[in-house]
Amino acid sequence: MGIKLIKISSVYFAIGVLLGYFMSTSHSYVLKGVHVHINLLGWIALTLAGILYYLFPSLAASKLCKWHFWLHNIGLPIMMLSLAIMIFTGIEALTVGTAIGATLTCLGVLIFVWNILKNLKGEHLGLFIQVFSFFFHSIIFLIFKIDENTIY
Ligand code: HEM
Ligand code: HEM
Repeated sequence: MGIKLIKISSVYFAIGVLLGYFMSTSHSYVLKGVHVHINLLGWIALTLAGILYYLFPSLAASKLCKWHFWLHNIGLPIMMLSLAIMIFTGIEALTVGTAIGATLTCLGVLIFVWNILKNLKGEHLGLFIQVFSFFFHSIIFLIFKIDENTIY
């Protein structure tokens, strides 16, 4: 799930910067709200979530991860497309789409937070101790080798 999210977020990044580029060159900032949220909720938030799911397998193993994944990835496109089409066409009824998308995204984010609070554990502590002990023993071994060389 972590890697999938990082890949999806990079697509949001491409869309977000292209939109920023379009706004800069056209001097039209009507899509600023879309640009901002695609970059922040799509690129930044999903990359961070992806890295956390990758680093902490207990987060990714939880069902909450799947819920977050789908709610965020269904909600955000609905929210962004409704907003963009509403801005271009002026069809006010599309506010409903924006609201539904925003609600799904918020639910996804709240589930992500719940997963973090419930399941995040210091899983890398064990790995850290192993790496530390490897270096510690290597240094001790090196010292003894030097001693052996000096003795014999
Ligand atoms: C080449 C890439 C980008 C370009 C050309 C670009 C362009 C723009 C433009 C033209 C605006 C409107 C400024 C205004 O209304 O005065 C803007 C606003 C903004 N952009 Fe970007 N952007 C880029 C990348 C990003 C990225 C990567 C992020 C976030 C991770 C980001 C976050 C924002 C935010 C938060 C605003 C709103 C700022 C405000 O209202 O004060 N942008 N950007
Ligand atoms: C589903 C969640 C979210 C919803 C429904 C939401 C909604 C909104 C709304 C209604 C505005 C005002 C837009 C305007 O006045 O044109 C806004 C502005 C803004 N939001 Fe969000 N937001 C959400 C999440 C976030 C997150 C997670 C970030 C940052 C990480 C963020 C950053 C911003 C910024 C920087 C602006 C100012 C943009 C500007 O200058 O026009 N939003 N948001």
